[in-house]
Parts: sequence; C-alpha cells; structure tokens
Amino acid sequence: MLRETSLEPSNFIYPLFVTEGSGVRKEISSMPGCYQESLEKCVENAKEAKALGVPAVILFGIPERKDEMGTSAYDENGIVQRAIKELKDSVSDLYVITDVCLCEYTSHGHCGVIRGRDVDNDETVKLLVKEALSHARAGADMVAPSDMMDGRVGAIREALDGEGFTGVPIMSYAAKYASAFYGPFREAAESTPQFGDRRSYQMDPPNRREALREVALDIEEGADIVMVKPALAYLDIISDVRAAFDIPVAAYNVSGEYSLVKAAGRLGWIDEERVMMECLTAMKRAGADLILTYFAKDAAKLL
Ligand code: PBG
Repeated sequence: MLRETSLEPSNFIYPLFVTEGSGVRKEISSMPGCYQESLEKCVENAKEAKALGVPAVILFGIPERKDEMGTSAYDENGIVQRAIKELKDSVSDLYVITDVCLCEYTSHGHCGVIRGRDVDNDETVKLLVKEALSHARAGADMVAPSDMMDGRVGAIREALDGEGFTGVPIMSYAAKYASAFYGPFREAAESTPQFGDRRSYQMDPPNRREALREVALDIEEGADIVMVKPALAYLDIISDVRAAFDIPVAAYNVSGEYSLVKAAGRLGWIDEERVMMECLTAMKRAGADLILTYFAKDAAKLL
C-alpha cells in the first residue's frame, strides 16, 4: 500500500536483433536468452513480448554487407526496413521503434563517416537523416538516434516533418556514455570499432553536469523522449534528468548489465530473478518512465 514505485510490463521496450536468412535464431553467447534472428523468428519473439504486455520493441539490424558509408542502413530494402513492415503487418498493435545509427552497417564499426581517424559529424548527420526517413517510410512508429552526433535530432525532425511524418516522435539517446558495458551488444550487433573507440562522440563517464547540457540540446532540437544510457551505473544521471526536465525519460539497461546478472545467476552466486527486479525497480525509482531491457519478457512474466 505504501510502495512508491511500481514496475509494469508497459514500461518496457524490448530490443531485437534482426538478421538476414530464414529460420535463424542464433543465441548471443555473452547474452543468454538473446538472439540474432531472421524475420519470421523476430516476429514470433515480438508476439511473445506483446502477449506478455510489453508494448514496444526496438530494432537493431545486422546487414549482409557492411561498407565504409554504411549504405545498408538507409537501403529501403534493408533488413530493418523489411523487419518494420513485417512486424507492423504481423503483430497487431505492436509499437515499433528503430535504432538509428551507422555502427552496425559500417565496415569500420564506427557510428559515422570516417575522415582521417575521426568521425565527421556533419557528413554523418546527413546519412542518419536518410536512415531515419527510410525507417519512417517503412512504417516505424518512432525513431531513436543512438549515434551521439551533434545536431542530429534537429536535422531528423526537420526531415521527418518535411515528408509529412509529423506524428513520428524521436527518442534520442541524449546522455550516452562511452561505456565498457556495451561489450556484449557489440558482439550481438557485430559492431566493435575496428580502430580507436567512441570517445570523440560518446560522453565521458565521470561527467554529470554535461549530461544536462546534452539533454537540453536534444530537447531544444525536438526530442520527445530523452534517454540515459547505460542505466545502472548512471542512476544519478537519470535522477538529474528527471528533476531538470518535464518530458519522458528512458533508461537503457544495456547488454553488459544484463550479462552480469545472467552470469552470476548461472553460477548460483545471486538470485537472478530478484536481482533483475531490483535493478529495474531502481531505474524507475531514479526517475525513468521507460526502460529498454533485454529482461523485458522475463520481467513481464514475473509481473
Ligand atoms: C549503437 C548502439 C549501441 C548500443 C545501442 N545502440 C552500441 C554502442 O554505442 O557501441 C548498446 C546497447 C547495449 O549495450 O545493450 N550505437
């Protein structure tokens, strides 16, 4: 009766990794219970999540070919574009969000166009706009730019509005840190940078006030939901963002956070279910309205 925080399956967004082929469901070794899946398996998985009360999925694509410019990211027949159509056709009422980034599609694994040894911010923004538009044209309900380039939210908003997609919101990865917790995801998405790291565009973990500046800029540019990522080691940031802005806040319970709990659970060192629920509750208690989590189905089942 006196509980201040409650979790609901409707708080969760379930990430899916979609790949070419048929009948493919390949478990990601560092993320037990998560898979690279071909379209029809992806649909099955999304149906299960929906039946458990999880309203939304976020799609990550693993394309057949990667190149310098990440062209598969904005190909209208790309894997994500086809997955959007398939999911919208086959799973009634499912809310389909897409991750907008180039790292899964570039041969070098960076989130943008490389010039010298750096990512070229403004050239990258042009491609992100193309990618977001191609997702909207395929029927995406919401786009979520995760690249951390400057100015991309405004550019995507303008382009979406220009094509009549005024009703497609933007959930921006607004305060995204250059974190070691993304390791397992990069195995899942085959997106480990081939040289260097992402520290020229993602945030420095010791910085707290900078997160508020990043979030403020994204909101000014038209973000509808702002995300803090990762979640567990950044609960202070979630709490700060919640207090400073009156728009919905999402937290990304990232791959490494999932893997830690799964691994310790398998070893019998912790009570996996209780630790999972405690972590998710902490994210909500800190101020997240929405949680992107690989635990979405497991937690929804318990709830
Ligand atoms: C793409 C992207 C990443 C994640 C979500 N979108 C990886 C990265 O920035 O390296 C990480 C998600 C996770 O670890 O669960 N840029």
